Amino acid sequence: MKRDLLSIKDLSNEEVLDILKLTTQLKEYKGRSSDYLKGLNIGLLFQKPSNRTRVSFEVGISQLGGNCIYLGPKEINLGVRESTTDVSKTLSRYLNGIVARTHTHQDIVQLTKSADIPVINGLSDLYHPCQGLTDIFSIKEKFKSLKGLTVAYVGDGNNVCHSLLQGCSKTGINLRIATPKGYEPKKSIVSETKTFAKETKATIKLTNSPKEAVKGANIIYSDVWVSMGQEEESQKRLKDFENYQINEELVKTADKDYIYMHCLPAHRGQEVTSGIIDNIKHSIIFDQAENRLHTQKAILIFLLSSEHSD
Ligand code: CP
Ligand code: NVA
Repeated sequence: MKRDLLSIKDLSNEEVLDILKLTTQLKEYKGRSSDYLKGLNIGLLFQKPSNRTRVSFEVGISQLGGNCIYLGPKEINLGVRESTTDVSKTLSRYLNGIVARTHTHQDIVQLTKSADIPVINGLSDLYHPCQGLTDIFSIKEKFKSLKGLTVAYVGDGNNVCHSLLQGCSKTGINLRIATPKGYEPKKSIVSETKTFAKETKATIKLTNSPKEAVKGANIIYSDVWVSMGQEEESQKRLKDFENYQINEELVKTADKDYIYMHCLPAHRGQEVTSGIIDNIKHSIIFDQAENRLHTQKAILIFLLSSEHSD
């Protein structure tokens, strides 16, 4: 049966750990090519721009011996040029898998329902599972173990935050989320992740105070204040988030060996100062960006390679 990755919830706790393990092996193997995806064609159906997701998937698919076809917004124009269902059914006749970046999560759900092939969420308004798995891998790479660490996420409670919620709760990492009022993560996602957290003994705390979130934290994480597709709300958002910047003052109360993470792209001077993002003693943003490649390969092998599922 085909497996999709719409959110980290689609994976059991053990499967998350399996993907992390496979990522470690692939990273050690560096860029050497293999045959995991030999003869397979993967479509990248992107309705929004991308640097890391597109390039890491394209390079990863090539290194695994597969072929990749990029389908940008102009080619497919999901739901406008033709219905999402017709796109999905047609692509299922040509391809072996789809990585989709859409505006609404509902579009990915619709694609998945009508596709006969695995669909991987390459970012929707609700989730960014490929980023979330990479983040957990990057934390493990730095700290060696996961349980008992505390992540402070400061910013908008949307896609990246939701995937961190799922990733942390499934691997035993404590998460404190500081958002302005009205930008909290979705209640249904928080309560669902609290049930995962019970099993791993992770704690999840929501606050409106960045200081409270960051105090003693091992990892500080931020994302943009204005996500793709929210450009019209820029003015309001920049004002609402102005006290949520990661800066030299705020990090003083974090653990002295804290690491700073950002999914990128970053808006320097908004959610984070250049001083924090460029501080190589703490900031691991480019290791994190590199790890997108290794993690994407592990996800592809996990979902698509017959060698892996045999
Ligand atoms: N972090 C991330 O998904 O980056 P891109 O939007 O550049 O793909
Ligand atoms: N929240 C951001 C993440 C970009 C990787 C956005 O959706 O634009």
